[in-house]
Amino acid sequence: MPQITFLLPDGGTQTLEAGDAPTVMHLAIRHDLPGMPAECGGQLACATCMVDVPEDWRGRVPEASPDERDMIEDRIGSLPEGRRLCCQIAVTPALDGLVVRIPERQG
Ligand code: FES
Repeated sequence: MPQITFLLPDGGTQTLEAGDAPTVMHLAIRHDLPGMPAECGGQLACATCMVDVPEDWRGRVPEASPDERDMIEDRIGSLPEGRRLCCQIAVTPALDGLVVRIPERQG
C-alpha cells in the first residue's frame, strides 16, 4: 500500500496510507487536508488541487498532460517546475514514499 507524505501550508506534515484512493487528490480530500479545495472533484476544471512535486520525484511521477499544464498556467500565470494538479496523479505502487507540498494558495 503506497504511503504519500503531504507537506502542509502551515508547515506541518501528514503521511497517509493511500488505501484505495484513485488519485493523490482523493487521498488529500478524504483526510480533509488544508489548502486543497479541489472544487471540481477531479474533472480537470478548477486547478484548486495544486501541489509541488520535489525534484527527486519529478521523473517518477507520470508527466502532466498539455491540458493540465494549461490549467495551471491559466490559474497562476506561470508553470513552476514540479507544479501539478494532484487529481491528475493516479496512485500506483510506484508512488510509495512520494512527497508533495500543498502550496500556501491555490491561485
Ligand atoms: S480537482 Fe479540479 S482540477 Fe483537480
